[in-house]
Amino acid sequence: MNKFKSIVVVSLGLAVGLASCDSGNIRRTPGHIYAPDMVYSRAYDAYTANPNFADSQTSRLPVTGTEARGHMYDHLQEGDTNAYKTYTTDLRFNADQLKEGKRLFNIYCAICHGPNLDGQGPLYASGKFAAMPANFKDPKYLHMPVGQMYAAAKYGKNMMGSYASQLDIKQRWTVIAYIKKIQSENGGDAFAFGDASMAAPKTGAKTDSVATDGKTPAMAANSDKK
Ligand code: HEC
Repeated sequence: MNKFKSIVVVSLGLAVGLASCDSGNIRRTPGHIYAPDMVYSRAYDAYTANPNFADSQTSRLPVTGTEARGHMYDHLQEGDTNAYKTYTTDLRFNADQLKEGKRLFNIYCAICHGPNLDGQGPLYASGKFAAMPANFKDPKYLHMPVGQMYAAAKYGKNMMGSYASQLDIKQRWTVIAYIKKIQSENGGDAFAFGDASMAAPKTGAKTDSVATDGKTPAMAANSDKK
C-alpha cells in the first residue's frame, strides 16, 4: 500500500512538473501585473524600432565631436606646419610625471635620440640607421616649439616613424615635457611645463615643520639670524 501511495505521489509530481513546461504553447503573458511600467519598459529598448528617428533605430551613434570621458583629442591636422608651431598644451607636470616622461623617452625615443638626448642613440651610433636623429641639445632644437615636437611624435618626421600608436596624447606631452626639462638645463628656454609643485622654492628649510637638525622652524630661523 505504501508503495502504491508513493507511485501516485511521484506520477502526480511528474504530471504537474511536465505541465508547467507547457512546451507546445509558450505563454507570452505574465498573468497579473502589479506595476506595468516596471514590466514593460517605457523607454525604447536597444535594437527595437524607434519612430522618433528617420532610420527608426533606437541605438544611436554619439553626436559628432563627442569626447569620451578620460580621453583627450588634439584636433591637429597632419601637414599643417603653421598649426604645429603654435600648438601647445595646458597640461602641467610634477617631478614624478617627468620621471615617467624619462621612462617613456628611454623606451621609445632613446634608441635613436640617445639617452642623453644628443642624437647619439645606439641605433644611430651603430651605423645601422642612415639619418641623424635630432640632437635635442643642439641650438637648432633647443628652442623648437613644443607643438612641432608633438607633431613629430604623432606623425613622425622623414626617417622617423609615427609614435601615435605607442603613446597616447598625454604620454606624448609627458615625453616632450621631459625633453623640454632637459633642454632648459642645457641652454634651452626656461621650463614652462612644471605644475605648482615644481614652481615651489626648493630651499624650503624654514617652512618645513621640522628642520633637518631637529630644531623647530622658529629655532632654525633664529639661529639663521645669529
Ligand atoms: C628610429 C629612430 C627614431 C626614433 C625611435 C625616434 N626618432 Fe625622433 N627623429 C629621428 C630622426 C632621424 C629625426 C630627424 C628627422 C629629420 O629632420 O629629417 C628625428 C627628429 C625628431 C624631432 C624633430 C622634429 C622636427 O620637426 O625637426 C623630434 C621633436 C623628435 N624626433 C622626437 C622624437 C620623440 C619624442 C621620439 C620618441 C617618442 C622619437 N623622436 C623617436 C629618429 C627617431
